[in-house]
Parts: sequence; structure tokens; C-alpha cells
Amino acid sequence: MVERTLMIIKPDATARKVIGDIISMVEDKFEIRGIIMKTLTVEEAREFYAVHKGKPFYEALVEFMTSGPVVGILLEGENAIKRLREVVGATDPKKAAPGTIRAKFGTDVQRNAVHASDSPESAGYEIPFFFK
Ligand code: RTP
Ligand code: MG
Repeated sequence: MVERTLMIIKPDATARKVIGDIISMVEDKFEIRGIIMKTLTVEEAREFYAVHKGKPFYEALVEFMTSGPVVGILLEGENAIKRLREVVGATDPKKAAPGTIRAKFGTDVQRNAVHASDSPESAGYEIPFFFK
């Protein structure tokens, strides 16, 4: 099934100037349907990650995600949601498979370079934060 999914290049990766490297790793595997750079407001970040409200890392995550500009990228393709999660790798870059975006560009479990929608429901909720 052709799906749409959202990738976000997080503030750690935009600061490290690896936007181009990361886009290169998805451009050959998906159709890029949109790219936008913005700085999330605290309210947007809280809503975006509302599923994690109450978890020990939630407040730090909101602070991190609003600490600088991010790049929202709308990707489309066959099984795009699952395939993008595979290209991105595990949440903790130290546990991410070699060659994945997080293994290459992540720093630690919070500063892990990118976000990727994890289900059709998540993609439907997350895409409108960047693309109306
Ligand atoms: P994402 O939603 O960003 O694609 O990441 P994910 O599915 O792999 O991981 P998730 O459990 O949804 O966590 C969301 C983001 O919260 C930060 N985090 N910090 N300090 C910690 O233990 C911790 N755990 C998660 C990461 O930035 C993670 O990507
Ligand atoms: Mg997640």
C-alpha cells in the first residue's frame, strides 16, 4: 500500500549541518512530497509528543525539540512507514543497526537526529503539524 509518513530532522542534526546527508539517505528510497524548516513552539512540541506525556523524558524532549530549527519531510512510497523506521534505526543510536540514520548521525537516546512516524495513525496525527 502506498503510504505517506513524516520524518523530522531534529535540532541536534540541523545544528551539526547534516540535513543534506540525511535527505540523501531517503531521497533514493521514497518520493519527497514536501520539505519545510521551522522552529516548533513549546505548545506544538507538547502536542506533537502528547503520547509521551507523563513519561520521565517528556519535559526534556519538549525542551530539546524546541531548542532550534527542525526540518519536516513528507515522504511517500510503498510501505513507507515501516520502511522509514528501518532506515532510521533504533531509538538509541548505540543500539541502531549500522548504516541507519541514527547510527550515523545520532548522539544519544534523546539527541537521535531524526523522528519517524511509527504507524498510520501517528502519521495522520503528525503530518498536519508541518503540512496543511
Ligand atoms: P521518534 O518518536 O522521535 O521517532 O522516536 P522513537 O519512536 O524511536 O522513540 P519514542 O519512544 O517515540 O521516543 C520519542 C523521543 O523521545 C526521546 N527519548 N528520550 N531519555 C530517554 O530515555 C528518551 N527516550 C526517548 C528521543 O528523542 C525519542 O526519539
Ligand atoms: Mg515515537
